[in-house]
Amino acid sequence: MQDKLNQIKSDYLNQINKANSLSQLDQVFLRLFGKNGEITILPKDFPSLAKNELKVIGPLFNFVKQELEKAIDEKRHQVKEAGYKTLATEEWNPDQLIEIKKRQGQLHPISEFEKKIADLFIKLGFQQFDGPQVDTDLNNFELLNIPPQHPARDMWDTFYINSGGNQNKLLLRTHTSNTQIHVMKELKPPFRMMTIGRCFRYENLDARHEHTFDQFEIIYVDRKLSMANLQYLSEYLLKGMFVDDISVRLSPGYYPFTEPSAHIFGTCVFCKSKGCKICGNTGELELAGAGMIHPNVLKNCGIDPEEFSGIAWGVGPGRMAMLKYDVSDLRSFNSADLNFLKGLSSESK
Ligand code: PHE
Repeated sequence: MQDKLNQIKSDYLNQINKANSLSQLDQVFLRLFGKNGEITILPKDFPSLAKNELKVIGPLFNFVKQELEKAIDEKRHQVKEAGYKTLATEEWNPDQLIEIKKRQGQLHPISEFEKKIADLFIKLGFQQFDGPQVDTDLNNFELLNIPPQHPARDMWDTFYINSGGNQNKLLLRTHTSNTQIHVMKELKPPFRMMTIGRCFRYENLDARHEHTFDQFEIIYVDRKLSMANLQYLSEYLLKGMFVDDISVRLSPGYYPFTEPSAHIFGTCVFCKSKGCKICGNTGELELAGAGMIHPNVLKNCGIDPEEFSGIAWGVGPGRMAMLKYDVSDLRSFNSADLNFLKGLSSESK
């Protein structure tokens, strides 16, 4: 055993000496100290040794082990130092550099579109406010004048969250209108706010419906606001996003949180109101839901409806982007198809 240990020591010191790279040293290390390395397995034979033999072998084993570990460490250090030296003296040759292809990032077309909408309203003094995507039934429905069991709830197929108990039931917001409640509870009128964000509905998916989509909404509360302001802001948005000669028509609609409520139609940007496939031959496209904030909603948020009135107005930027970029399937925006997305970047428009 003593000879064997001395043999291992001289063999391996020799190998360590000859090694001139870190990976060679790693190999030597594994052959010695790996799972079945020569040093690792050696103590398995100790139980068969006589007691007085073990007294000699034990310390010798430890000594050889330490010597080899030290030798590997020192050699590693030497190899590294030598490497640094050659690096420092190496000639800098730019021709040997590998060219890294430039890949410039860009905003997603929907984000770009939303930024444009937000910029339009910033010019009119609207500030941006973020509402929560997971909210209570209270903020998403009840305070918006939609009590539990009210048939109007059918307008929003909702993902409820199993949060236990019915009090303050949680859900994924079905529209950005929950933000009306957060804004109005927090701020004293007059104010002009806007919000952009994700909404979720338990929808049957098709070319115009996604379960996850964005909405843009404005909440404008002041004295003496009327449907005329609403009409103006609608025209302002459509002219800013599409073309100057677009005209807007408000048609009566129903939302529980606005009174009166309106659907906003714009002249079809494709056929200029002549009638085409996209507008279903009507010559116009429905672009937003809107209305004067219902007095109950103002009251629910501590605002006196006798003194103040409000405008709320919501659009789906995804739907508008479909029109702007002539995209036939809303789902393509979330497809992660880079060729499609790059084709819609502002630089290519
Ligand atoms: N929240 C409505 C919807 O999602 C849109 C809307 C916003 C209507 C504001 C009126 C006022 O359908």
